[in-house]
Amino acid sequence: MPSSNRQHWNPERYAANARFVSDLGLPVVELLAPRPGERILDLGCGDGALSVALIERGCEVLGVDSSPEMVAAARRRGVRAEVMDGQSLRFDERFDAVFSNAALHWMTRPALVLDGVWGALRPGGRFAGEFGGQGNVRTIVAAIEAALSARGLAVASPWFFPDEAQFRELLEASRFTVTSLALFARPTRLPGDVRGWLETFAQPYTCTLPAADRASFVAELVETLRPALCDAQGLWTADYVRLRFSATKSCGTRSDP
Ligand code: BEZ
Repeated sequence: MPSSNRQHWNPERYAANARFVSDLGLPVVELLAPRPGERILDLGCGDGALSVALIERGCEVLGVDSSPEMVAAARRRGVRAEVMDGQSLRFDERFDAVFSNAALHWMTRPALVLDGVWGALRPGGRFAGEFGGQGNVRTIVAAIEAALSARGLAVASPWFFPDEAQFRELLEASRFTVTSLALFARPTRLPGDVRGWLETFAQPYTCTLPAADRASFVAELVETLRPALCDAQGLWTADYVRLRFSATKSCGTRSDP
């Protein structure tokens, strides 16, 4: 989860509008292949739904998230969790693996994240994750930007959606050995209309508007997006693109610092 201070996380709203995020994250748990007894850092743990999946596999899990509200929600599930910015992790080779689902796109300084993950892993440790890749929610972002532009506003993207080459380069620059990396479209059914998605995730954009104008802005976006994202049965699908990867902290030495 996030590091943007313009995004406020509400666990109840998240549960209502975004439970699919953790439901669809189970393949990433499988990619990590956690083993009983392993110490795992869940980076951007959110409300801890996938931390619990790791605990149920016998792992010792620490969740970190920049949102105090989400950390409190994770603790309510019994997850050991701390408030921490993923861009300033300070762990000393404590973990066998780092796991991250649907969080890295909120961390717009990836080199800092990867350095922190490297430092957190023991030699030979694994890093597996999934997040938004190039083209993720392109239709939604274009509609938001057009609606803001019509109001004379421009907001820099709060999200980091790299392509495969860019993320591979970042991993390798941080000394990881990439074991798998794939960008793929994953159209994602929303639990309601796109309003819930916008209210849950698009605050870095909507907060630039006066509070009194936000509801009508979102209502306008719902109508703009209906032809592209809503089918004849009234079911909404967001144009998600995922970047799924695994990498290891090689045990070998290297000469540069
Ligand atoms: C995502 O999971 O791809 C995502 C979620 C919220 C905002 C942007 C992207």
